[in-house]
Amino acid sequence: MGTEIKKEKALLKDTEVKPQEEIWNYILGFTHIALVKCAIELGIPDILENRESPITLVDLASEIGCSQSSLHRVMRFLIHYKVFQEKPISETSLGYVKTPLSRLLTRHGNHSMADLVLLTSSPAMLAPWDKLSAWMLGNKELPFEAAHGKDIWEYSAANPGFSKSFNDGMACEARILVSAVLESCSQVFEGLTTLVDVGGGDGTALRLIVEACPWIKGINFDLPHVVSMAPTSTNGVEHLGGDMFDHVPKADAVYVMKILHNWADKECIAILRRCREAIPQNKGKVIIIDAVLGRDEENEFKGLGLMFDINMMIYTSIGKERNLEEWSYVFHEAGFTRYTIKHIQALQSVIELYP
Ligand SMILES: C[S@@+](CC[C@H](N)C(=O)[O-])C[C@H]1O[C@@H](n2cnc3c(N)ncnc32)[C@H](O)[C@@H]1O
Repeated sequence: MGTEIKKEKALLKDTEVKPQEEIWNYILGFTHIALVKCAIELGIPDILENRESPITLVDLASEIGCSQSSLHRVMRFLIHYKVFQEKPISETSLGYVKTPLSRLLTRHGNHSMADLVLLTSSPAMLAPWDKLSAWMLGNKELPFEAAHGKDIWEYSAANPGFSKSFNDGMACEARILVSAVLESCSQVFEGLTTLVDVGGGDGTALRLIVEACPWIKGINFDLPHVVSMAPTSTNGVEHLGGDMFDHVPKADAVYVMKILHNWADKECIAILRRCREAIPQNKGKVIIIDAVLGRDEENEFKGLGLMFDINMMIYTSIGKERNLEEWSYVFHEAGFTRYTIKHIQALQSVIELYP
């Protein structure tokens, strides 16, 4: 009898404590991104990346120019979550070293995600989250507009600092995504002599594609304020400013990466019709890089897809991630007759769309 009561009490404690723990994780969850952002701003991932041996708290604090006690606490948290690691320096002392995670947080690493962390944790990107429920309850202003008075593209055009941070964040993601595309799907670029990247940002994606496929002449097409800030020294890539709803420059194929998920079906259909006009009707194609939700319910990227979907709701409001059925409807309405989908090691897939 005594054991039964103990068991019941333990069970009760379990059901009470576990949900509370879960909610505490929601309440304090922001600590993760806030401390990763702090570490990037202090340059800690770069300092550790450039060292062969562990660095002591005293040396790290002196190199950064900050207090040892606060640094110790920040590092203790980030070590717990495996962003950094501790290794022995001597029999009695430990020092900090890099990890595979901290490498992704360096400012200039090839696959660095630091600019994305800085963008998503910026006050401008956090403010619209506060407007979500009011919009859902019928407030006419979309979350981003309620926070900033303009939609994200207009706000970007009016704020060069935000535009730079947005383009840098997108370039970060483009470096990771294009290498996944090239790794398992480079054949999609075979036989093309010209390729236009619609909404190509600062041209990072196209520069990487042309580097890997030097037979291609690339046209990076984006809004005028975006291409005016793009690096000019990009071999084999020409920048062109314009509006994809008006026209798309002609090429053998059109590349649209993470563009359609920013828009509702009506706009996607309009963009794809412009893309169809830009390619040869007999042998042209549109290469779409975007998520296909539900491609496999057990998919490791499922949670990420759902998070991206909510992010689209916050930042563009009309944008969304789509499942196969939703994609098929858009393709059909835009006048395309067939498509193929290849999954790559990323949330996004490669969709080839034919007139
Ligand atoms: C989410 S970003 C994607 C950038 C890039 N494709 C990538 O994956 O890194 C969307 C891009 O669409 C561009 N864009 C928005 N409206 C546009 C329009 N009407 N015409 C051309 N580009 C547009 C934005 O300036 C931005 O660079």
